[in-house]
Amino acid sequence: MNNNRIFLSPPHMGGEELRFVQEAFESNYIAPLGPQVDAFEREFCEITGIPHAAALSSGTAAMHLALREIGVGLGDEVIASTLTFIGSVSPVTFLGGIPVFIDSERKSWNMDPDLLAEELEQCEKTGPLPKAVIPTDIYGQCADYDRIFEICDPYGIPVIVDAAESLGASYKGKSAGFGAKAAVFSFNGNKIITTSGGGILASHDEELIRRAKFLSQQARDPAPHYEHTEIGYNYRMSNIVAAVGRGQLRVLEERVMQKRRIFNIYRNSLKDIPGIEFMPEAYGRSTRWLTVILISPEEFGADRETVRLALEAENIESRPVWKPMHMQPVFRFEPRVPSTRNPVPGSQYPARTVGGKVAEDLFESGLCLPSGTAMTAEDTERVISVILKCRTY
Ligand SMILES: Cc1ncc(COP(=O)(O)O)c(C=O)c1O
Repeated sequence: MNNNRIFLSPPHMGGEELRFVQEAFESNYIAPLGPQVDAFEREFCEITGIPHAAALSSGTAAMHLALREIGVGLGDEVIASTLTFIGSVSPVTFLGGIPVFIDSERKSWNMDPDLLAEELEQCEKTGPLPKAVIPTDIYGQCADYDRIFEICDPYGIPVIVDAAESLGASYKGKSAGFGAKAAVFSFNGNKIITTSGGGILASHDEELIRRAKFLSQQARDPAPHYEHTEIGYNYRMSNIVAAVGRGQLRVLEERVMQKRRIFNIYRNSLKDIPGIEFMPEAYGRSTRWLTVILISPEEFGADRETVRLALEAENIESRPVWKPMHMQPVFRFEPRVPSTRNPVPGSQYPARTVGGKVAEDLFESGLCLPSGTAMTAEDTERVISVILKCRTY
């Protein structure tokens, strides 16, 4: 076995991170907040065009604050994509809300706008409308924002885009997350740029971001002593972490190009292989954060798990597509008007689902291939040759 492990999406520093960390050390701002945090937020806003941002400890924290500010509370429904990562929807349960999962469209693998429209019509007839809609931009590609905004607007339902995986992507020439009530970004270690861990909540609404910053610092009221009229969180990003982020922002565009180049190498080598299909690029520019393939066992001669294990045997990390939320044992599916009982920790949480077959298919046959931006031609060749060897004919 080759001793050089190929990881799915490892961190890739750009070179300037240490200079900013050094600045933070020299100014002795080894604390949450500080000039690096302010600069990171400002530079992030310049790059995305979203005018206001709060740098936080994680993307999950950003989602939690957004939902809290929108007023999600006990028993409120929140619509989300079923094909996503748990951090997108766990904050709904933190607030006692009930997630309603919507299936993917085949065209982009993101939230199906037609199903969303049907569900909102149904909600209007039978019961309360959801408090928010959270479309996830999966694997670096924006959801169909225009349609989703158009569907939600007449009901006055805010859209919070989970752009944790799509920083650097665009939709109709605008950045991922642009135009939504709020957008959540993640700088977790596997993301296109990373701060080792961290997140940003960005919005066009200045007041929402001001409140998010307030709540992320224990909701401390202005007073010389510690005064609290609300309960907040300890969610702010530290000055050191923000320094790493500033260095990473400077290479974001280069990382997008590298991710797309890796995708093209895989596609050029595998596109004519029967039974292999690539994730489609339906709207704008995807970053191709991860290159994802679908494997049809009948045509290819081996299934997704056989390929994953063959790669693992050669010290290559790959991963199944996200297991849809409606298949997660932590949720207990309820009829349309679910119980508003607060779940006991450790038990299942009430949820609803709308469709789910497309996401189930994607989970069953989808495989995320190593997509690290520092991968060499030799690395991609190693991955491709293992995949090709899995064919039984
Ligand atoms: C779609 C999605 N949502 C939310 C998150 C949560 O972000 P974090 O890990 O920074 O809390 C992630 C990634 O980790 C993600 O991929």
